[in-house]
Amino acid sequence: MKIVIAIGGSVLLKEENARMFKAYGEILKDISLKHQIFVVVGGGRPARKYIKIVRELGCGEAQSDAIGIEVTRINAQLLLSALGDYAYQSVPNDFKKALAFQESGKIIVMGGTEPSHSTDAVSTILAEYVNADLLINLTSVDGLYNKDPTKFDDAKFISEIPVQDLVKYLDGKDVKAGTYEFFDMTAAQMIERSNIPTIIANGDDPNNLIKIINGEKVGTKIV
Ligand code: UTP
Repeated sequence: MKIVIAIGGSVLLKEENARMFKAYGEILKDISLKHQIFVVVGGGRPARKYIKIVRELGCGEAQSDAIGIEVTRINAQLLLSALGDYAYQSVPNDFKKALAFQESGKIIVMGGTEPSHSTDAVSTILAEYVNADLLINLTSVDGLYNKDPTKFDDAKFISEIPVQDLVKYLDGKDVKAGTYEFFDMTAAQMIERSNIPTIIANGDDPNNLIKIINGEKVGTKIV
């Protein structure tokens, strides 16, 4: 399969050390022996820290986004370091480059592209570009709930959601630099228009990635 995997910065940099980069490095190497892999890496807390500073300097949204993008690309470089020879050792800064790099047959790792969306959207656009069989979005929660599980004890987990309902759910959520909520609206709309088979799951356990690829029921499936 051709698989696009988005790994949230909140997953890779929860501890701000090399542990998760190493863990994902090993798993991605294994998976790449059987599948063609594209990885999109998020910015996490470091991106939000830098966005806060650039805002304090009086910069607007696009410049704040640009800083966020730089951080995602640094995180992509870190994952390339963990993957070594299994990965194409350059971070494509646009989708055409990512397409060109796939000729190498190696794992492609990228971060952000342009302002006004998050790396969730980058992963869905990339999935369209490469005609992916599967898009996996690894984040720091188990998937989608009907309400915030950190605030409501009776929040119910949603194991499957029609993409139209996800788009409705995300309508009106914040789209400012560094503040994308559970999932990015642009990404949801892209999934809707191209029918990309998508699973959103908890990346804090890297083994979830293997389970999903093996067809086990993990996370929220967008249908
Ligand atoms: P993330 O994709 O990490 O955003 O990009 P996020 O959803 O806010 O954070 P986590 O990691 O999932 O918790 C970080 C920031 O970089 C900018 C946005 O400002 C985003 O919030 N960005 C990223 C862009 O403007 N364009 C991109 O293509 C990617």
